[in-house]
Amino acid sequence: MAKVLLINGSPHAKGCTALALEEMIRVFQEEGIETQLIHVGNKDIRGCVSCNACSKRGKCVFDDAVNEIAPLFEAADGLVVGSPVYYGSPNGTLLSFLDRLFYSTPFSKHMKVGAAVVSCRRGGNTASFDVLNKYFTISGMPVASSTYWNQVHGFTA
Ligand SMILES: Cc1cc2nc3c(=O)[nH]c(=O)nc-3n(C[C@H](O)[C@H](O)[C@H](O)COP(=O)(O)O)c2cc1C
Repeated sequence: MAKVLLINGSPHAKGCTALALEEMIRVFQEEGIETQLIHVGNKDIRGCVSCNACSKRGKCVFDDAVNEIAPLFEAADGLVVGSPVYYGSPNGTLLSFLDRLFYSTPFSKHMKVGAAVVSCRRGGNTASFDVLNKYFTISGMPVASSTYWNQVHGFTA
């Protein structure tokens, strides 16, 4: 069975981004696709320090959620990343997580399908969406498109 890992960058496990991800999970489940949702926005995740120790260790030197989630990403056929918009970008915790996840993991991401969804109150969704899709497009990951904008607007779910 195909497996999709969903990452929520928001610190709110029941917020707007979570609601968008839950809608995606509903559709995946209708299609018989296995899903796993992980919230990273409430975790203490530092940024990459460019030490390059991962090139020898095969994992990040900081042993946190990145190293815990890396094997789940390796085993998944698809990755969905959801983010709230903070100052016109994906939120900082999520960016720290994704920089280190994509940089430190030696396994091929080639042909794992990627998709992103973003949530803002008023503006910055499309800029944030572009940032997230670049993790996929520089990793040989086809991006699953949509029939409309992969974004929601709101302050409360
Ligand atoms: C630090 C911070 C910065 C924000 N910056 C923006 C912004 O640039 N544009 C916007 O429309 N909303 C902004 N917001 C609002 C959130 O993007 C919006 O409420 C989002 O839907 C929250 O998603 P969540 O419920 O999943 O956390 C910001 C919120 C915070 C906390």
